[in-house]
Amino acid sequence: MADQAIEGTKMKLYYNRHAYPLDLERCPCDLHFVQYLESRRLEGKTIFHFGTGDHHLVGRDNHERGNPNEILAITASYQPDTGRSGEHESYIDFIVNNPAAANYYKVLFADVYTLSPRTLPNFDVVTLFHLCEFYNEEKSRYARLDDRKLLEMLLSKLNAGGKVLFYTKSAGYVEKGREAAALVDDFISQGKLSIEDEYEALLICRRGGSY
Ligand SMILES: C[S@@+](CC[C@H](N)C(=O)[O-])C[C@H]1O[C@@H](n2cnc3c(N)ncnc32)[C@H](O)[C@@H]1O
Repeated sequence: MADQAIEGTKMKLYYNRHAYPLDLERCPCDLHFVQYLESRRLEGKTIFHFGTGDHHLVGRDNHERGNPNEILAITASYQPDTGRSGEHESYIDFIVNNPAAANYYKVLFADVYTLSPRTLPNFDVVTLFHLCEFYNEEKSRYARLDDRKLLEMLLSKLNAGGKVLFYTKSAGYVEKGREAAALVDDFISQGKLSIEDEYEALLICRRGGSY
């Protein structure tokens, strides 16, 4: 793994200089996800959610519905020197003011590509709505994972019957060389993923038989 001290470069951890508001016209994936959970009556599940947004819709909706599920979410939003706060600060603000929600909704500030299977629990549901949107081969070279390895790693953390969800209108799916679509298709053709369901713009897969 690349090490900035060894390479003598001044690498910085990837972070996202935005705190994304809810924009249902451009990005309805989190809304589709909470509707999917409710419509399929998914309760008592452990959920990994990649990309909270500043709105924290997934955690807030869970709280408003009586906390049916437990969620570990991740954000890389950080806006130093701007006077504006990032998505992790809005999470802190949310749980400080809604402490019961903190039992069921945790948000980690981290680059998702640095996650390790050894420090993660198993999940019933994993969202990868932003697969192939943010990884940069050059800037992310310190990270242990890339998009393919991230998908592999999170598949290895799925409980029996677990699901991984993709957003088929994401930039990674329909722009940027359609890399996410190609990756998912490749996993399906290798028998590592199989399609279980669709909901609005979400594709719901299970770990395939050959995994
Ligand atoms: C376009 S926003 C979408 C947020 C929300 N899912 C929505 O649809 O409104 C992308 C999200 O991914 C997070 N993100 C981007 N790159 C990341 C990375 N490398 N590690 C962890 N989170 C990342 C951002 O912090 C942000 O929460």
